Amino acid sequence: MAKKILLVCLGNICRSPAAEGVLRAKARERGLELVIDSAGTGAWHVGDPPDARMLKTAGGRGYDLSYIRARKVSMPDFYEFDYLLAMDLSNHTDLLELAPPNRECDIRLFLDFADGETRETPDPYYGGDAGFENVLDLIEQGAEGFLDHLEDESA
Ligand code: 4NP
Repeated sequence: MAKKILLVCLGNICRSPAAEGVLRAKARERGLELVIDSAGTGAWHVGDPPDARMLKTAGGRGYDLSYIRARKVSMPDFYEFDYLLAMDLSNHTDLLELAPPNRECDIRLFLDFADGETRETPDPYYGGDAGFENVLDLIEQGAEGFLDHLEDESA
């Protein structure tokens, strides 16, 4: 059965939609069949497309995020997904607090699967364009690291 992965940030308009698009593209490159989705811990942007700055930056690297609409993390997510991957420590803490005690999903920091020194994907919302490029660099590393982990696990 295809593993199910939920990428989680705060607004679901910058980091986690980008992580959804990047992970989808990199899984396809490796021929891995995964179910991939994203959500936010906050509800401010529910129903919105990704932030225009992220659409542009990701589009420049060949990732099309235009189909994504923001949604909030919900209780069924903790049962339906195998992995909930948080973009920063605050998202991680929020997920652990929301998680029902009988959940079976793994709740992890996305960048813990990458080799880099950074554990958190910083929120680019209030910053400039460089922040969006940096987020995509980190997400590309996180996606490769996470897919390596899945491949090792199933080897
Ligand atoms: P994200 O970025 O969590 O990467 O989607 C944010 C988007 C919106 C807000 C915060 C972070 N906001 O406060 O509206």
